[in-house]
Amino acid sequence: MDKGLSLPEIVNYCKEYGFIFQSSEVYDGVQAIYDYGHYGSLLKQNVKSEWLKEMVQKHNNIVNIDSSIIMHPMIWKASGHVDNFDDLMIDNKDSKKRYRVDVFFEQLLAEGKISKELFDKCNELVNNNSLEDIYDLFVENNIKCPVSGTCNWTPVRHFNLMFNFRDIDDNTMYLRPETAQGIYVNFLNIQRSTHQKIPFGIAQIGKAFRNEIIARQFTFRMREFEQMEMQFFIKPGEDERVKYYEYWKEQRMNWYVNVLNIPREKLRFKPHDKLAHYAKAAVDIEYEFPFGFKEIEGIHCRGDYDLSNHERYCKKNLHILDPETNESFIPNVIETSCGCDRIILMLLSEFVTNESSDDKQRLVFRINNDLAPIKYAILPLMKKQELTTVARDIYDKMKLKYMCSYDDSGSIGKRYVRNDIIGTPYCVTVDYQTLEDSTVTIRHRDTMEQKRVNVENL
Ligand code: GAP
Repeated sequence: MDKGLSLPEIVNYCKEYGFIFQSSEVYDGVQAIYDYGHYGSLLKQNVKSEWLKEMVQKHNNIVNIDSSIIMHPMIWKASGHVDNFDDLMIDNKDSKKRYRVDVFFEQLLAEGKISKELFDKCNELVNNNSLEDIYDLFVENNIKCPVSGTCNWTPVRHFNLMFNFRDIDDNTMYLRPETAQGIYVNFLNIQRSTHQKIPFGIAQIGKAFRNEIIARQFTFRMREFEQMEMQFFIKPGEDERVKYYEYWKEQRMNWYVNVLNIPREKLRFKPHDKLAHYAKAAVDIEYEFPFGFKEIEGIHCRGDYDLSNHERYCKKNLHILDPETNESFIPNVIETSCGCDRIILMLLSEFVTNESSDDKQRLVFRINNDLAPIKYAILPLMKKQELTTVARDIYDKMKLKYMCSYDDSGSIGKRYVRNDIIGTPYCVTVDYQTLEDSTVTIRHRDTMEQKRVNVENL
C-alpha cells in the first residue's frame, strides 16, 4: 500500500535528506524562515523554470522582469499596503502569546473546541472590522489561551504585516510584501521597451516578506517566501474582465494538473469570502495538504486599482494609448499569484510516498522527471578502479547536459535507496559487462525495472 507522509514526517524528511532546514538552526532558529538545501534548492529552481516556461515562453504576449525588493516607500502608500495590509491580532496577557484572530478560531473549530456557528460569527466580525465585538466574543464564550489556560486578553488590534526599517536618511522603508507592485511601477517602461499591445502580461519571480502573526504548518506560512506572479493588462470592461479571468483560472488549474501532475481531485477553486483591499473578484486554487485544503494560488481581478492609485500618488500619466482607436486608458488587471514555497510543500506532500508491499518497504519521491532535483545518478557497481574510471567518464559527459550525480560509496542497493528517496528518476550502473560490451543498466525509480542499454544511447 502507498501512503503519503504526515506533516511532521515531511519536516523530518526535508531535514534528513537535504531539502529544507530551519533557518539559523544552530542559533535555535528563526520562526517561519527556512533555508533550502541542495535537493530543495534544485527542486525549487525546476519549479520556477516550469512556471517561466508556462507563462513567458508559451505566451508571446507575456514578458518577464526582476524588480527590486526595496522600493520607494510611497509605492506602499499608493498600493494601500501601509493602511490596509493587516491582520487582527489579540494577545494573552498571561502567556504573552499573540494570535491572529481568524486563524485562531479556525484552529479551535478544527479541534472541535467551538461550534461552527461561533466560528461564522467570528468571521463576520473580522470581515466587518468590529474589534470590540470580537473582544466580547472571546470573553463571553470563555475562549482560553491554549498556553496559559486563561481568558485574560488584550483588546483586539490591527497588525500591519509589512517589515519596515529606516534608511540612512531616517526614511521608513519596506521589504515588499508582494512582487506585483514592482510590475505596476515599471509598467510603461516595459510596455514601451518590449512593444507590447493590450492585452499583455508581465511576469515576475521573487522574494516577498510578511511579518505573519502566526507561523504554522512548516513552509506553508513563512515570513520570507517566494512568489511567482503575473499581471495581465486588459482593456477596461466587464466582457474583457470575465473573458480573461475565466481564461487564467483554467490555464492555472491546467498547469497544476498537466505539468505538475497533481490529481485534479486534490485541487479545488475557492472563491474569496473577503476580498483583499485591491480586488474586485478573486478565487483561490487550493490543494489538499495533509492538514486540509489550503491556498496555493490566488487569481484576482484588480481592476485599475493599482495603476490609478500610482498615477494619483506619483502624479505621472500612466495611461496607455490604443493605436487603433487612439483612445487612452488605464488598463485593468487580472493577476495570477502563487507561492513557490507552497508549491514545493504540495509536491512533497503529494509525491513523497511510503510504499509497502508484502515483503518490502521503501520511501520514494515520485516527482515528475522535469522537476526531479537530480535526473541521473551514475553508479559504479563497486568501488574498483576499472569500474570507477568508466563511470566517471560517463558522468563527465552527462553532467554537461543534465543535473547528474556520481556516487561510489556503499553497496549498490543502498545507493538505489538513497536515490529513490531524493527522487532521481534514473540510476545508471556500470558493471563488469560494461567493460566488455559498453552497455550499462538503467534502473527506473518508479518501477524499479532495470534495462541494459548501450552507453552511446544514454
Ligand atoms: N499579489 C497578490 C498577493 O500577494 P496573496 O494571496 O496575498 O496575493 C499570493 O499571495 C500567494 O503567495 C498565495 O497564494 C501563497 O501561495 C503565497 N503566500 C502568501 N503569503 C505567504 C506566506 N506567508 N508564506 C508562503 N507563501 C505565501
